[in-house]
Amino acid sequence: MQDQLNALVAEAQTNAHALAVRADFESFKARFVGPNGSLTQAMKGMGTLPKEQKPVVGKLINEAKQKLEAIFATCLAIIEEKEMAQRLGNPVDPSLASPDAPSGTRHPLAQMREEIVSIFRKIGFTIAEGSEVETEWHVFDALNTKPDHPARDLQDTYYFPDRDWVNVKAHADERYLLRTHTSSVQIRTLLAEKPPLRIISPGRCFRRDTVDATHSSNFHQVEGLYIDKKVTVKDLKAVLDYFFRELLGPDAKTRFRPHFFPYTEPSFEVDFHSAHLAKLGKQWVEIMGCGMVDPEVFKNVGYDPEQWSGFAFGMGIERIAMIVYGIDDIRYFYQNDLRFLRQF
Ligand code: DAH
Repeated sequence: MQDQLNALVAEAQTNAHALAVRADFESFKARFVGPNGSLTQAMKGMGTLPKEQKPVVGKLINEAKQKLEAIFATCLAIIEEKEMAQRLGNPVDPSLASPDAPSGTRHPLAQMREEIVSIFRKIGFTIAEGSEVETEWHVFDALNTKPDHPARDLQDTYYFPDRDWVNVKAHADERYLLRTHTSSVQIRTLLAEKPPLRIISPGRCFRRDTVDATHSSNFHQVEGLYIDKKVTVKDLKAVLDYFFRELLGPDAKTRFRPHFFPYTEPSFEVDFHSAHLAKLGKQWVEIMGCGMVDPEVFKNVGYDPEQWSGFAFGMGIERIAMIVYGIDDIRYFYQNDLRFLRQF
């Protein structure tokens, strides 16, 4: 009996190597442990043995069975590995990164924002944050913008119908809205910090604009604020000239035109000129607003306008990115078309 079982295990051992596919393995296994398999037959034969031989033979059969199972397990593992390799196209290391995964790029508006901010950081400006949901006081009143100003019209601006759920500190009975410009950060900074101040604040703004090639109801600005003693328009012009030279090259120039903003006096619109404009067929392009902080603004936040002076400016990130990158439609920025985004 022992010889018979040894022969059976040896047979399994030698034939196992030849198996390549699962179907072969299954019939191979059945030859030993299937209903008519040789080991099954041996087990059935035990019934006819004399009682005293049964434990000895039973032990031998069990040992043979364990050896066979070990052979089956190794054999199956090899076949499974082969199957996997075939499915994946071998040799393969599934833990490696896919070689053709495309690398992402930053959004052109994020790139432009970072470039603008880094230019100002070089001359000591730090970043200030405001909030996109604002109170009417921060967006308008504190900035000396009178109640009859058109931007305060319900039709012009996104107001919230209910103010209880918005977590922004309010003055009594005032309305909440999505900020229409980043100038509200001037107020938040003046209230939260001590002068002298030099801040730059990039962020998202909202207006009820009909969307077209140059308008979007959701856009981005960068606000600047500089507060110290004896600040003049000369300082403002020098900072903005520096900014445009850094952004557009040494030939860039600015031109100030008198304008009106409620929160600056005097106020200016800034045009710039640079080689970049040749591709747009223009000499000067209007790019931003600025001016000297109005004494009324200082009073609204508890600063003495006799003691403190400063300048502020605000620009649209989309507008600058469109000029610098030569983009003719603002909507490209928001469509998330990879053919557009991958160019930056
Ligand atoms: N808030 C203005 C706008 O949205 C831009 C602006 C103008 C900002 C003059 C300023 C400024 O800080 O002094 O069009």
